[in-house]
Amino acid sequence: MLRILFMIGGLALIIVTYLPFDSLAKDTALARRLLNSQGCKACHTFEGDGGKDAGSFEKMRERLSWAEIRMRLVNQPGTHADGSMPDFSHLSDEEIDALIYLIKPR
Ligand code: HEC
Repeated sequence: MLRILFMIGGLALIIVTYLPFDSLAKDTALARRLLNSQGCKACHTFEGDGGKDAGSFEKMRERLSWAEIRMRLVNQPGTHADGSMPDFSHLSDEEIDALIYLIKPR
């Protein structure tokens, strides 16, 4: 009986350990799709590839917090230097979160 309980416990632990990683992996795939479909790389560089006009995501992650990145994406008034960054507030919360995570992994 004790053995079965341990097995169930072990199984639960494995599920709890791997579930979040699985969903983060899915988020990354979603973010990469968005990067292409929303044209981010026409202006921004990511992983050494893309436009040079608007800076690289790798540099941003050192400077900006998650909240600041979110503000830039949903185009809050006053967060854009010259307004040439498009507004992405048409994206869902899940899509915005996925993009933020890709730009700045935990
Ligand atoms: C048409 C060109 C263009 C596209 C497309 C574009 N951006 Fe930008 N982005 C800019 C420019 C230019 C800036 C910097 C100036 C500004 O803030 O207006 C910027 C700024 C940013 C910033 C803030 C950087 C900082 O240093 O404050 C983030 C974050 C960002 N972009 C993410 C994205 C993401 C994610 C996408 C795709 C969903 C995207 N951008 C698509 C041009 C673009």
